[in-house]
Amino acid sequence: MHDKIDLLIINGLVVTPQASFEAAIAITDGKIVAIGDAGCLPEAEEILDAAGLAILPGAIDVHVHFRDPGYTHKEDWESGTAAAAYGGVTTVFDMPNTIPTVATPDVLAQKHAIAASKAHVDYGLYAVLGEESIDHLEGLIEAGIIGFKCYMGNTFGRIPSPSTGAMLELFERVAPTGLRISLHAETNSVMERRETRLRAAGKNAPLDHLASRPAVVAIEAVERAATLAEWTGARIHVLHISSKDELRPLAEAKARGVDVTGETGPHYLMLSTDDYARFKGRIRVNPPVREPDNQQPLWAALESGVIDMIATDHAPHSAEEKDRPVIWDVDCGFPGVETQMPLMLTAVAEGRISLNHYVKLSSEAPAKAFGLYPRKGALLPGADADLAIVDLNAAWTIDDAELHSRSKASPWQGRDVKGRVIHTIVRGRFVLRDGSLQAETRGTGRSVHAIQQMPAPRPRNVDKTLVAVTRNDGA
Ligand code: DOR
Ligand code: ZN
Repeated sequence: MHDKIDLLIINGLVVTPQASFEAAIAITDGKIVAIGDAGCLPEAEEILDAAGLAILPGAIDVHVHFRDPGYTHKEDWESGTAAAAYGGVTTVFDMPNTIPTVATPDVLAQKHAIAASKAHVDYGLYAVLGEESIDHLEGLIEAGIIGFKCYMGNTFGRIPSPSTGAMLELFERVAPTGLRISLHAETNSVMERRETRLRAAGKNAPLDHLASRPAVVAIEAVERAATLAEWTGARIHVLHISSKDELRPLAEAKARGVDVTGETGPHYLMLSTDDYARFKGRIRVNPPVREPDNQQPLWAALESGVIDMIATDHAPHSAEEKDRPVIWDVDCGFPGVETQMPLMLTAVAEGRISLNHYVKLSSEAPAKAFGLYPRKGALLPGADADLAIVDLNAAWTIDDAELHSRSKASPWQGRDVKGRVIHTIVRGRFVLRDGSLQAETRGTGRSVHAIQQMPAPRPRNVDKTLVAVTRNDGA
């Protein structure tokens, strides 16, 4: 006699990067144990009938700002992970621009404690990579991070940007650890100078924000970061790719063998300068939403693999912080973790991208880039049972007032979408059931750093690092 398994999901359409097929999924102790014909699978304590629904690997959003500690009027770990659950997102990576900045092991430990007590879904935490963390890198890694975040340009929180010299030293130090460095790739000096000029000229309209950050800031930053990564062997990830033009240095770096991945988000694929007049400060984000001719090349890059994954840069702010009349006073960013999947499933319904390729971009690719695959990002026996079960045919209209983020101000307001998340399952546990958050799952999310296994590091030019040339060993 075999014991019953915990959960059997029957009659759903299982979607992987390779294929879509009707099958049952057997889950026990938080893991997928089998996928196949329901008649061949063991009896279960619970059966979920997913007839008419698609079963996707839960999305892994490598770029969210959950604001806790420090700005909990915008979001906290409870509300942010609730929004994730409603969006079919089962793992999130949280950025370090909270208060205080995540630059020391103590601050990181405090954030771990807060996240563990409130999270509905699994998570990783970033530490900042800059002058403020340079003496704490080992301690941060020991205290549990998913990767480092390097701010090449200013944005919300105004974390100082390291000079190119400091960046090289930081990359030299991170390369032997094998961890990935995620980059806010916009060059600070260019943006500061232009913003100062624009403000002095009395320019303060929404589109002036774009004028302060033209695509050249991203092109130059991606090119420079790739050069430093190539020299040191550090792994990098280019966050929020916003322009067609930065695809060239990205593709060239990949062709040279640099270990670089890239993400873009729905706002760069689906919004443009045509939307500024309607949404005003609500569309202000760093990097900015750009001219319409950027969209098609970004879609093409998702198809070709130059861009590896979809992430949201979920950046919640209050309506008051978004609706200020002078664009420079508006906080940058908007919520996105909850709307990514419906927006992208709408693109699937429109034939812009296949459903199979979507799950590669939203789940498999992020898991692989950050060393979580196949424990995360896979519908395979042995994997964590992290699932988004969706109705691909449900048509609805995004209403900011109904978002579960604490932020109710986005440029998605009023947008018609097709595709709705019905159930979200994290390690076999329903966090969203029949479209309702399960309140008792608060505090059940866990940090994924413990299961991370990056491939062996390949540092380069180790004899030329700053440490190698400055050490005084009598040689
Ligand atoms: O618009 C943005 N908002 N871009 C960023 O890089 C940071 C983010 C935030 O934290 O609000
Ligand atoms: Zn961000």
